[in-house]
Amino acid sequence: MIGIIKKYLKYRPTIHDIICHIWIGFRTKISGFWGSIVFYIKAKFYGVECAGKVTCYGKILIRKYPFTKIIIGKNVSIISSSYRATASTIFAPTKLQTFTTTAEIEIGDNVSMNGTSIVSRSKKVTIGSGTIIAPNVVIMDSDFHALWPPENRAYSPPIDTDKEVTIGNNVWLGMQSIIMKGVTIGDNSIIGARTVVTTDIPSNVVAAGNPLRIIKHLGEK
Ligand SMILES: CC(C)(COP(=O)(O)OP(=O)(O)OC[C@H]1O[C@@H](n2cnc3c(N)ncnc32)[C@H](O)[C@@H]1OP(=O)(O)O)[C@@H](O)C(=O)NCCC(=O)NCCS
Repeated sequence: MIGIIKKYLKYRPTIHDIICHIWIGFRTKISGFWGSIVFYIKAKFYGVECAGKVTCYGKILIRKYPFTKIIIGKNVSIISSSYRATASTIFAPTKLQTFTTTAEIEIGDNVSMNGTSIVSRSKKVTIGSGTIIAPNVVIMDSDFHALWPPENRAYSPPIDTDKEVTIGNNVWLGMQSIIMKGVTIGDNSIIGARTVVTTDIPSNVVAAGNPLRIIKHLGEK
């Protein structure tokens, strides 16, 4: 504590700096405290399985259909509040939603997500441990509407076209990326901002753009 005070004193803070700094810290702590309490109540109510500490900022939307599973690992951070978010404004609260009896969402340990929408309609969506999900990412296992016939599009979309989504360990999904049904992303890979991912991505690469291309191989000398 004394070390931190000494460090700040070097910058000759004004009273205004000090008050703003204390307020931001206090406001963030309060948001994390209430967000987490409300989340735990909702998680208990819906039967979301949490293996350990989940810290939540702002309102987290959970809609869990009966018999489905939402499993969350240890030390997970779920953010819905732009106040706490780092990279960009969050467009909407984080949402975890399962739709039919076979749907499943599994989130590993040490995952952090910001304004993320994870929707499992009938297959499993897996987020590996250590994965970072930047603001406003959408991940889903279904297109939700049949291609044909058009008059039935809204009402009877078949679930046999839904496909599992698997995000590996230590992946980084850039802002506003969209991960579509059936995609597997290998460990340690990075998806660039605003990229729509419709095909599998190997481990240890940076993939970005629309259409997507592999722009870098990581960890190579
Ligand atoms: C993917 C990313 C990490 C790559 O960074 P980088 O390794 O420094 O990449 P570079 O800037 O060297 O770009 C390499 C090429 O990829 C292209 N590219 C990079 N990111 C891109 C993106 N998101 N969409 C389309 N093309 C992209 C560049 O235009 C460049 O193309 P070129 O070789 O034809 O000139 C970065 O561009 C990005 O999208 N970051 C997301 C940041 C974010 O979401 N932060 C939130 C905090 S959690």
